[in-house]
Amino acid sequence: MNAPANDQYDAFAPFYDAVNGEPEELVAQLLDVISRHAPAARRLLELGCGTGAVLAGLGSGLERTGVDRSARMLEHARRRCPDVRLVEGDITTFTLGERFDVIICVFDTLNHVTSTDGWRDVFARAHEHLSEGGLLVFDLNTVGRLRDLGDMAPWVYDFDGHTLVMDVDFRDEPLAVWDIRIFEHLTGATYRLHHERIVELGVGLAEVRAMLATHFEVLEESDTRGAPPTDDSVRALLVARRRQSTSASD
Ligand SMILES: C[S@@+](CC[C@H](N)C(=O)[O-])C[C@H]1O[C@@H](n2cnc3c(N)ncnc32)[C@H](O)[C@@H]1O
Repeated sequence: MNAPANDQYDAFAPFYDAVNGEPEELVAQLLDVISRHAPAARRLLELGCGTGAVLAGLGSGLERTGVDRSARMLEHARRRCPDVRLVEGDITTFTLGERFDVIICVFDTLNHVTSTDGWRDVFARAHEHLSEGGLLVFDLNTVGRLRDLGDMAPWVYDFDGHTLVMDVDFRDEPLAVWDIRIFEHLTGATYRLHHERIVELGVGLAEVRAMLATHFEVLEESDTRGAPPTDDSVRALLVARRRQSTSASD
């Protein structure tokens, strides 16, 4: 059996877009939020941009930058969106030395940061890279969603002749381990196994709001149906505005 790849997303990267499809609904939701809360936005940064699916969907009306720590995901993003600036880096520590009007962190990328100190670091990085009054938009897998996924039978999905088997283990709550196996079809009955383990952290919404409060004012929260989210929602999308600076160093 193949051992899991060393860097998260190394094994999954070549198959990621085929498994996930186009994020049309998420892109529409982001464009709607931007048009309502930051209609004059010009510059957008995505934290954990992966293969660039969302950046590509957002279109060239915005000057776009993406940061991701996976070199292999970024290889796909470079092919997919040649007009986007892509930077290899960690979203808890990066410094670009410039500011953006909107920062997004979506498709449960924040859950991939596996400590609450790390989440605080991401919020602090976002604060430093946002212009005065800029928008931070992010989504989460809620704790309830991770519990539900942990209780479910493994998900089996056939795509392009290959098979994905994904199993979420949340027994070590608040850490969820996503065990992902892709059986890549080579020829006849020959398959190659790609194995990845991705760890996510579940954080209750009350704690997320408390962490945000230092640097941001929450403008909107919604679940997948547009209703206020709870810790049992399938997903929570939060829109927050960077607080006014209180000192010259902010
Ligand atoms: C679920 S994918 C989402 C990709 C993209 N946002 C999308 O919507 O398709 C999570 C991405 O976050 C990246 N990631 C996770 N933790 C990271 C970190 N600490 N710093 C930078 N990138 C990170 C992974 O490499 C991966 O590309």
